Amino acid sequence: MTEQGEPMVSLKNVYKIFGPDPRGRAYDLSRAGVDKDEVQRLSGHVVGMKDISFTVNRGEIFVVMGLSGSGKSTAIRTVNKLHDITAGEVIVDGTNVQELRGSALQTFRREKMGMVFQHFALFPHRNIIDNTGYGLKVQKVPKGQRDAAALKALAMVGLEAYAQNAVGELSGGMQQRVGLARALCSDPPILLMDEAFSALDPLIRRQMQDELMVIQEKLHKTILFITHDLNEALRIGNRVCILRDGYVVQIGTPEEILTEPADGYVAEFTQDVDQGRVIDVGNVMHDPVVLDASESLTAAIDRLGKRRGGFVVDADGRPTGMLWVVDAGSALAHGTTLLSDVLRTDFATTTSTARLNEVYAAAGSGFSIAVLDEAGHLIGELEPREIMEEMGRVEQLIDGFEREVFL
Ligand SMILES: Nc1ncnc2c1ncn2[C@@H]1O[C@H](COP(=O)(O)OP(=O)(O)OP(=O)(O)O)[C@@H](O)[C@H]1O
Ligand SMILES: [Mg+2]
Repeated sequence: MTEQGEPMVSLKNVYKIFGPDPRGRAYDLSRAGVDKDEVQRLSGHVVGMKDISFTVNRGEIFVVMGLSGSGKSTAIRTVNKLHDITAGEVIVDGTNVQELRGSALQTFRREKMGMVFQHFALFPHRNIIDNTGYGLKVQKVPKGQRDAAALKALAMVGLEAYAQNAVGELSGGMQQRVGLARALCSDPPILLMDEAFSALDPLIRRQMQDELMVIQEKLHKTILFITHDLNEALRIGNRVCILRDGYVVQIGTPEEILTEPADGYVAEFTQDVDQGRVIDVGNVMHDPVVLDASESLTAAIDRLGKRRGGFVVDADGRPTGMLWVVDAGSALAHGTTLLSDVLRTDFATTTSTARLNEVYAAAGSGFSIAVLDEAGHLIGELEPREIMEEMGRVEQLIDGFEREVFL
């Protein structure tokens, strides 16, 4: 996980009711807990957002995820004030955006946020570099400076070589990259991305997700990313907010969403997700059993207790050998009594931030995996069967919710 900075975008108890009298009966009904469909039936008004609160911290990718009509676009549009709100507060970098208007609003948007949408129009008669630098042109930034910024932004999305090409010469995926470059060009601290990758085919989409994460490593933007795809949300989000019918169902890290879904609704979403891509080794590992190379094999087995593998470490705490309980048993049976005679050196290693699916291959050996910190010190240990058990636990959790929901 990235470290969390201070709040950059905060929605506080925001309501957005669509209709001629947004603060009238519909608002009262919604506040009283009447659901969206019922409010619509009773008042003819649509509840876009119901008491939504969330905070996006500086430097994080915060993903808002939900089905069509759950209020995702409405929520992101309150941040740049494309929508007025019915009640609540939207604070962006210390400013109450909803109180801004006219040129103050224009300036605020320009300086604070770049936007990327699913279908944004590039100007067909301008080449790529001009499209990328268009926002700066509007701000009357001189051409030399503007082109330099545009080239830098294009380089970030891998399109530097296409700067002089016409829009029509680029594929859809490349055009979407230009959209991202255009948002990055004026170097705003906040990126608002509404289904920015949703129109792309799966392979290109994955590439774009990867690239966004690489760019984020370098630039540390504050990103509010909207998607209806949970896989995408869990893949790129530091935290994910799940909306349903205009309200927040759960906010959490991808791991929390998967392993502690707030209700059956969330659990149902998580069914199709490859859990191994989201759960960290650190979440599953155990404290390592550290053995002394000079101790007897029987003493070492005793110290393993319920664990099946233990490690011998050097003076700096780096593992140099692994005792596997099965080896120990057969060695004893053959009369070996020294631990040092039975140690394996071909054990696999990983880090606590690796995802479970990254250790699948190593788990295939069947032996304990050593978890190391950045300096190579032993900080944990993981048995292959535990990886499988963790997956099974998540499956069971989902089954449990299903019974609760459907029986
Ligand atoms: N301008 C509007 N006037 C009336 N109702 C609106 C308006 N914009 C959105 N809504 C309604 O508000 C609710 C939330 O819509 P919103 O566009 O935020 O959903 P979304 O989660 O972005 O969906 P999608 O995945 O389809 O983009 C929906 O019921 C929608 O019909
Ligand atoms: Mg939308």
